[in-house]
Amino acid sequence: MRVAEIDVAEPGQNQVRLKQHAAGLNFIDIYYRSGLYQAPLPHGLGMEGAGEVEAVGPGVKGLKEGDRVAYASGPLGAYSGAYLISADRVVKLPASIGFEQGAAMMLKGLTVQYLFRQTYRLQGRETVLFHAAAGGVGLIACQWARALGVKLIGTVSSPEKANLAREHGAWATIDYTKEDVVARVLELTGGTKVPVVYDGVGKDTWEQSLDCLEPRGLMVSFGSSSGPVTGVNLSILAQKGSLFVTRPTLATHLTPRGRYEDSARELFQMVTSGKIRIEVTRRYRFEEAAKAHEDLAGRRTTGSCVIIP
Ligand SMILES: NC(=O)c1ccc[n+]([C@@H]2O[C@H](COP(=O)([O-])OP(=O)(O)OC[C@H]3O[C@@H](n4cnc5c(N)ncnc54)[C@H](OP(=O)(O)O)[C@@H]3O)[C@@H](O)[C@H]2O)c1
Repeated sequence: MRVAEIDVAEPGQNQVRLKQHAAGLNFIDIYYRSGLYQAPLPHGLGMEGAGEVEAVGPGVKGLKEGDRVAYASGPLGAYSGAYLISADRVVKLPASIGFEQGAAMMLKGLTVQYLFRQTYRLQGRETVLFHAAAGGVGLIACQWARALGVKLIGTVSSPEKANLAREHGAWATIDYTKEDVVARVLELTGGTKVPVVYDGVGKDTWEQSLDCLEPRGLMVSFGSSSGPVTGVNLSILAQKGSLFVTRPTLATHLTPRGRYEDSARELFQMVTSGKIRIEVTRRYRFEEAAKAHEDLAGRRTTGSCVIIP
């Protein structure tokens, strides 16, 4: 990874150029940097951010210079100071949500929105298992679960992260580096296990996640912070109780545009009503992006971090 200066063009058809105020730091940035996800090199990094519209291309409707906007899944390069993006990929930020908060919540918050409201629509009485509960997606998930009346059991790797997850609304926590996750889930649920597991850790937790599910439960494998899940023999789903499995991505949940707007509206309501607080736990300068990646990959961050272009 290195800092480079490039010229940013005038916005083309249906594009806007943003003066960026902050970009979100996400695990997907690591997948692109490491090559787990591939894009032609050289390329920028970052897909989440917030800023002001500074130029509007032909054909753009509903946006003008000076508008405050944010986005969840833009083209690679969100860490930069100036950024070209399709107008239909951004949403206007409510006045009460700051740029850093916007950059810290769009990708992660809309992920929790689809996981909890679309992939497995939580009703408010369930007990669920959520891995890496003190992370960026995790701390938003803890708060969203509390707001819904859902008992979220969160896994974490340290007592500090356990406290943080509980402060944000996790009903219980399990230190998966020391405790037997399946045994603890059985204990916490009185032997019934859970109807859904949200697993962004991947390789290391895959099999124990399946063992935490009720018969016909849903395994939502939505990330690979420990490495990707590969080589699955489908019969394992039969052996472990007619389980369902899905491997969803945010991008599929942001189209058509109406779905993106509805989800963003729901997320903004959760934040502006105070049910979810978005705290920026760390700020990195653009030049410190490599350090930001090392910290995130090294499990040293909690909650949402931002990069300031
Ligand atoms: N599919 C989608 O639509 C979508 C969208 C957004 C994010 N995601 C996924 O959601 C997950 C969380 O993303 P995030 O950006 O909020 O990251 P994050 O949760 O802030 O950071 C990753 C966390 O994973 C845990 N972890 C467990 N094993 C690890 C290992 N071997 N190496 C590094 N970390 C490990 C760590 O928490 P502990 O120390 O507590 O174990 C770490 O803090 C990622 O897998 C990401 O790809 C998926």
